[in-house]
Amino acid sequence: MTSDPLIALRPWEAPEVTSWGRLPMNAVDRRRGALPLDGDWRFQLLPAPHAPVGGAWSTAYLPGVWTMRGTDDPPQYTNVRMPFAEVPPHAPAANPTGVYERAVDVPADWAGRRIVLQVGAAESVLLVYVDGRPVGISKDSHLAAEFDLTGVVRAGQRATVRLTVVKWSDASHIEDQDQWWHGGITRSVLLYATDPLHLADVTVRAPCSGELRVDCRVRHASGALPEGWYLTGDLDGRPLAQDAEFDRANVEDERVSDFLGEARLLATVPEVRTWNAETPELYDLTVRLHRADGTVADTSRHRIGFRDVEIVGRDLLVNGERVFIRGVNRHDFHPLTGRTVSYDDLRADLVLLKRFGFNAIRTSHYPGDPALYDLADELGFYVVDEADIESHDHAHEIADDPRYLNAFVDRVSRMVLRDKNHPSVIVWSLGNESDYGANHDAAAGWVRRHDPTRPLQYEGAARLGWADPDVASDIACPMYAPLQDCVAHALSGEQTKPLIQCEYSHAMGNSNGTLADHWAAIESTPGLQGGFIWEFWDHGILQRVSDGRPAGRGGAGLYDNGVAAPGYRWAYGGDFGETIHDGAFIADGVVFPDRTPKPALYEHREIAAPVRIECFRHEGIVLGNHQHFRGLDWLAGEWRLDLADGTTLTAPAELPSLCPGETAAVPLPFEVPRDGGEAWLTLRVTVAEDQPWAPRGTEVCMPQVRLRGPAVTPAVPVERHVDVDGEGLLVHPLLTAAPVLSLWRAPTDNDELGGIAPRWRTWGLDALVRKVVSVHREGDRVTVLAEYAGATGVVRHRQVCTPVEGGVRVDEEAELPEEFDDVARVGSVFETVPGLDLLEWFGQGPWEAYPDRSAGAPVGHHSVPVDELFTPYLRPQESGGRHGVRHFRLSAPDATGLSVVLDEPRQVSVTRYRAEDLTAVAHHDELVPRPGCVVHIDAAHRGLGTASCGPDTLSSYRVPPGVHRWSWTLRIL
Ligand code: GAL
Ligand code: MG
Repeated sequence: MTSDPLIALRPWEAPEVTSWGRLPMNAVDRRRGALPLDGDWRFQLLPAPHAPVGGAWSTAYLPGVWTMRGTDDPPQYTNVRMPFAEVPPHAPAANPTGVYERAVDVPADWAGRRIVLQVGAAESVLLVYVDGRPVGISKDSHLAAEFDLTGVVRAGQRATVRLTVVKWSDASHIEDQDQWWHGGITRSVLLYATDPLHLADVTVRAPCSGELRVDCRVRHASGALPEGWYLTGDLDGRPLAQDAEFDRANVEDERVSDFLGEARLLATVPEVRTWNAETPELYDLTVRLHRADGTVADTSRHRIGFRDVEIVGRDLLVNGERVFIRGVNRHDFHPLTGRTVSYDDLRADLVLLKRFGFNAIRTSHYPGDPALYDLADELGFYVVDEADIESHDHAHEIADDPRYLNAFVDRVSRMVLRDKNHPSVIVWSLGNESDYGANHDAAAGWVRRHDPTRPLQYEGAARLGWADPDVASDIACPMYAPLQDCVAHALSGEQTKPLIQCEYSHAMGNSNGTLADHWAAIESTPGLQGGFIWEFWDHGILQRVSDGRPAGRGGAGLYDNGVAAPGYRWAYGGDFGETIHDGAFIADGVVFPDRTPKPALYEHREIAAPVRIECFRHEGIVLGNHQHFRGLDWLAGEWRLDLADGTTLTAPAELPSLCPGETAAVPLPFEVPRDGGEAWLTLRVTVAEDQPWAPRGTEVCMPQVRLRGPAVTPAVPVERHVDVDGEGLLVHPLLTAAPVLSLWRAPTDNDELGGIAPRWRTWGLDALVRKVVSVHREGDRVTVLAEYAGATGVVRHRQVCTPVEGGVRVDEEAELPEEFDDVARVGSVFETVPGLDLLEWFGQGPWEAYPDRSAGAPVGHHSVPVDELFTPYLRPQESGGRHGVRHFRLSAPDATGLSVVLDEPRQVSVTRYRAEDLTAVAHHDELVPRPGCVVHIDAAHRGLGTASCGPDTLSSYRVPPGVHRWSWTLRIL
């Protein structure tokens, strides 16, 4: 038996107990002026909550999770399934429990004040003690818990604060999000003091009309409110009483009871600058609570934005505009801390998203740190704020389980109470993947009453019927709905709600195929308004390979450009010795674990381009403004003309003054030279003046248009010899492996999890056996017929090598049998001698692109060292491809090397790895680069799709059976 009453209560197996002794949530920001308690705390990890606290303490930094500190309770990754067998509301007996303790010197000048402890976030059950006395309990792992310590601590004296955190609980069953499991305190701890007379809550309503309304709730620590208190406020430093008649005369509807005072401040702001994600105009609001004698008892500061959000018909309108939602799902993640993120981290996340054209964030799948919303307000993001409810593994039972009713309403209401004043928050979300039940409707009812100003969404409800008026979702917010279903719904005449996918385009590994197709449909189909890419982060934890421990905070700087330093790697599920885990499914973001952008982000950036080239006509280049609220004056441009022969011209661009939605023609900036072949005009658009998220000169997009098609220059045969060996393989001084047919790629995560690669293996595409059928010489030309046998079919291949000026022209033809329907690629692969370390090409680039992810890679002359062409996806897979390549050179520093001219724009990759090298290992650090180059030239290459979770690529991006032809000319430089 324990003498600890909090432990005796066993709150970790009592879902009805959501808190005890916890103060109500509110929107008064107490961070300023608080005493921070972040830093080193005494720490011990118990095997279970009722285990006795021993005498041996170590030190732990808060905020932090013990799972990242090399304890014997390491991080564990599961997606849907719970990491333990107990069913709700039970927790396993082995239940790591962290005890954090420290002395706190309560400032002497807090005498007579109300003293409050705030714990930013603790997972999953927090028990609070001061000087051995139980003070409170809290659940809800991603929102702060506050406890009134007024009668518990004394000003000027030292108190011992103990925070006990129980890892597994009834609450874990509704925190079953697809991420690492951790234990600890993930956000700041602080102590603050207020006057006994204080602001208990402030609710701001700031519509575009400029009619500001501020509702305040006032309390007194002793219960009874003193006579004569009143409020004042000001907006942007202007006393509201003067400017907008914010004085006591305007305090309407004031009711004063013994326990709660309510008052409303009103003002009409003339010529209001409205807030939207493009021009996030903010005003500083200060609310002051005065005692009868006029002195200020309490102050609350807010940065507010005037904006409207409403649903009209099937459109979600922000300030009356049907804005496109270019969103991403964002988790709290850091490769060194696991879950703790600093202000700088949050800012860096949002700055990067802004630079890549995103304007919206879904806080998947729990509320973020308060600073996230401040930053979203400031930098300009639309936020879908999501409550911390995901009962994925036991969704059906819990959605209607009355024992969990409190928890649902508690979590949703606490989020709304905290975040309601942020202009960035435009939609509330009831949570994720928790089926749909009465508990959701209870929470929805609370929200609708408390905040009628914002729509509400919940995927679990919406899935019962996108147009169903009776489910708790104002938005049809599916996840991974096939594009054609979305379009069909929008065209059906049945649509009643905006269709904005809460998750789409799963970014696992080399992915995000068909993003451009999605956006072409969204932008051209009324009723479709966008969605949120899954997801921002690859949650790879930096791990020391030698002992398998997380590098922790000491790992700072031990990574670069998406790659961990030697001796370290990005760990995913299973890498910490867990037996129950979901592998690399945790690595599914658009950035690497160190926030290095993946190539898919460039695709997104271009798709989101604020200014675009609509077409090229006699009168010039037609430009269009694709923003919702602002002109082009914040942008600068430069024209570039690229000719196939290597000529590049540039000229400054004068962007026309265009309102949103307008187009205008501007004259062609160049006299295009008559010779030089294919010609492309690119508008490189940059930020004209420093923005909070980008210094002047930051690239924003690169729209382009083709001015002239390729000139056909047949390679002229010359009198020279082509060498082939006895196997009919081309002999060439710069090639260490002759060109042979390739139908295989190292499966991407999409290929593997989408069931495509298993099919390829069944066909034996990864181990084709080549057999020469005939070698035929005709003059200088050699024709080699070969058969490539798989397990279930044979491909006939003809390779014709003809000597040409300076090299050899290779004409190829492959005939795939009907059963090889939808292969990875059809093309040639060869290997070069070492030393050819620079790739220069004319084609799309400079970044990695694939047939269904090539909208963001402009055609031009590009040059990248071979070692930098490869993209280091955490689990090695097909990577580094370049799309639309017309010709390329591979050269050594002394400019010797080879060149290849292709018959048509082709998919090409040049890396240090064979497909089998990539397939053989599970982590990037296990790869051993080959000294030479492995070169693929593909007549056809399968799109990437998103089949690891969601739709596969469209049929137009698949590689059909039948005859494929391609040719290329290889020369020595
Ligand atoms: C969704 C889920 C996300 C994540 C994703 C797959 O179903 O909401 O949390 O699991 O799939 O990565
Ligand atoms: Mg889930």
